[in-house]
Amino acid sequence: VRRMPTEARLAALAAGLGSAAAGACLGRCLAASPAAAAAAAAADADADAADASVASESNALAPLSDFLLEPGLCYLNTGTLGPLPRCVVSAVSAELEWLAANPLNNYFGGGDDVPATERMDAVRGKVADFLGCDVAELCLVPSTTVALNTVASGLVDSDYLRANHSVLQTDQEHPGGEACWRHLEALGQLAAIDRLELPPVPASADEIVALFAAAMRPTTRVICISHVLTTSGTVLPLQRLAELAHANDALLLVDGAQAPGSLAVTLDDTGADVYTVSAHKWMLAPPGSGLVYIRRAAQEHVQAAFFDADTPPPVDAPAYGGDPSRYLSYTHSSGTTPTHTIAGLGAAVGYLDSLGGKAAVQANNIALRDRVYTGLAELSRGEGGGGGGLLLRLLSPPPGSDLCSSIVSFSIPTELMSAVRQLLALSSCPCKC
Ligand SMILES: Cc1ncc(COP(=O)(O)O)c(C=O)c1O
Repeated sequence: VRRMPTEARLAALAAGLGSAAAGACLGRCLAASPAAAAAAAAADADADAADASVASESNALAPLSDFLLEPGLCYLNTGTLGPLPRCVVSAVSAELEWLAANPLNNYFGGGDDVPATERMDAVRGKVADFLGCDVAELCLVPSTTVALNTVASGLVDSDYLRANHSVLQTDQEHPGGEACWRHLEALGQLAAIDRLELPPVPASADEIVALFAAAMRPTTRVICISHVLTTSGTVLPLQRLAELAHANDALLLVDGAQAPGSLAVTLDDTGADVYTVSAHKWMLAPPGSGLVYIRRAAQEHVQAAFFDADTPPPVDAPAYGGDPSRYLSYTHSSGTTPTHTIAGLGAAVGYLDSLGGKAAVQANNIALRDRVYTGLAELSRGEGGGGGGLLLRLLSPPPGSDLCSSIVSFSIPTELMSAVRQLLALSSCPCKC
C-alpha cells in the first residue's frame, strides 16, 4: 500500500477498512482532500446527508468565523490546545501594544491608565466568578503542570505531607498530574504513589467511589485525580471522592485540565481542596493560562513558593495560610507576569459568556459528543447493526451517562493506526502523535 499513488492508496484503505457504511463515511471524509477524489467517488450516495449536516453546522453555538483557524482545517484538538477566538487574539495584541507604549507606567502605575497589575487582578476576579469561587482562593499560573508541582512542594514544605505518606491516583492520569508525585517519591519525600486500576468505561459513579474506598490506606494523605480522564473522557464524581478523602483525613487535589469550558464547573461545589485548570484548552484562552484554586481551609497546608512570600512565617506557624494577598497576579514570588496572556484569558471568559455562559457551552459540547459517539457506534456495528463494521471499540461512557464529558475515545487495531492517521491528515484533521 505504501508504494501506491495517494489516490489509489486512499481508495484501497477506504475499501479495506470495513463495511460499505464505513467506506462511504471515509469517502465523505476524504472528499475534503483534492488528492482523494477517486476515493470520494464512493461516497456520492451519501452526499445529501453530508450536505444536511454541514448546513446544520452553520447554526453552531460558536461559528467558525469567530476563530482564526486556517481555511479547511478540521480542528478537533481542543483537549491539547483550544482554538483561539479572534477576540482573544485581539485582546492579547492590544494589551501588548498598550504596554509597549509606556512599559513601566503601564505595568506598575504612575500614568493615567489603570496599571497592568490591577487589570490582571480584575481578570482574576472575572475568572473566579466564571468558575464559582472566591477570588482569594484563585491564583493565575502558567499551566496545570506548574500548579500541581507548586502545590505538591507546598504540601511537603508545610509538613502536611511526610516521607511515610502516600498519594492515591488512578492509573489513567496525565503526566502533568503525576510528575510532581514522582519527583517527591524519587527525592524520598513520599513513600508511595498508589495507582488505582479503573475499568476502561466504569459502569457508574458508585463503582468508582467503591474502588477508591477500597484503595485508601492509613498512609493516604492526598487523592490526586483528573476531573475528566484524558484516556476516556470519563468524569470522576468529585463531591463523593472529596467526602471520602475528608473522612480519611486526606485532601482531594484535582487536575481539572480537561474540565472547565468543556463542562460547567463550579469550583466551590466540587468539594476539592485544590483544583487546577488549563484555560488554554476548553476555555479557549492563550497558552500559559493556568489557574490554581486552593480552598481557604486548605491554604495552611500549601506553603508559599510561587505564591507571595514577602516575609517569612512566624516560627510557630509553619505556613503562611489565610492571607488572600498571597495569590495576587503580581507577587514577590512570581515577579513580572505576562499581562497580555492574562488579558487574553479575560477575553476568553467574555467570549464564553457571550455564547450563553458555561451551562450553554456544556449543553452544546455534550450534544456534539453524543453525535460523535452515536456515529462511531454505528460504524463499529456495521450496516444494519449486523456486524462487519470498522474494527473500532468505543472507550467512553454512552450518551445519557452522568460520567460523560466532551471527549469521546475509541480504539482501532494498531495495524490500522497509521492508515487512519493518514486519512485524517489528508482531510485536514491533524492528529497529535
Ligand atoms: C488531564 C491533563 N492534565 C494535565 C495536562 C497538562 O496541562 P498543562 O500543559 O496545562 O500543564 C493535560 C494536557 O493535556 C491533561 O490533559
